[in-house]
Amino acid sequence: MSIAEKTPSVCNRQGYNVYAVSNKEAIRKLLKIQGGLNGHANNISYLLLVTGNNNYMSNWHERNQAFIDGGLYAMSLIYALEYVGVGACPIHAFFDEPARKFLNIPDNQNLILYIAVGNYPQKVKVPKSPRESYKRKTTFIE
Ligand SMILES: Cc1cc2nc3c(=O)[nH]c(=O)nc-3n(C[C@H](O)[C@H](O)[C@H](O)COP(=O)(O)O)c2cc1C
Repeated sequence: MSIAEKTPSVCNRQGYNVYAVSNKEAIRKLLKIQGGLNGHANNISYLLLVTGNNNYMSNWHERNQAFIDGGLYAMSLIYALEYVGVGACPIHAFFDEPARKFLNIPDNQNLILYIAVGNYPQKVKVPKSPRESYKRKTTFIE
């Protein structure tokens, strides 16, 4: 996880936090709340929850910044874990209030996403997830 420490953030404020849950019962409970990763609780060694901390932001112009910095940090974590050969799957944190209550997370932190972490089996099948070309996503202004 230390590889992700290099993540850039606004004014280098590093306004993000991670809850790293390894207790199996807690993982099962959180995944039940999460609702989008059914049947995989036993394969997960850590369930990470990345939050963005509004205490690092100063006014309404910065209202989205905790999500941006936390999102960037989450992406760095995923790349870092995969780089060292550990499986890392981002999953949404749509149902944030029950999870907040369960983990006792203060109101100043936005729940951004979970990362399900586990070991790959020797052989693994992955779905094809095609991506659109950058050309369709980029407006070149010359
Ligand atoms: C914010 C976010 C939330 C996601 N939530 C879920 C989820 O709840 N369940 C799931 O199986 N995959 C989830 N995913 C994984 C995406 O479905 C997956 O990244 C996408 O289909 C592309 O596939 P690939 O990452 O294997 O290339 C999520 C990804 C992101 C970035």
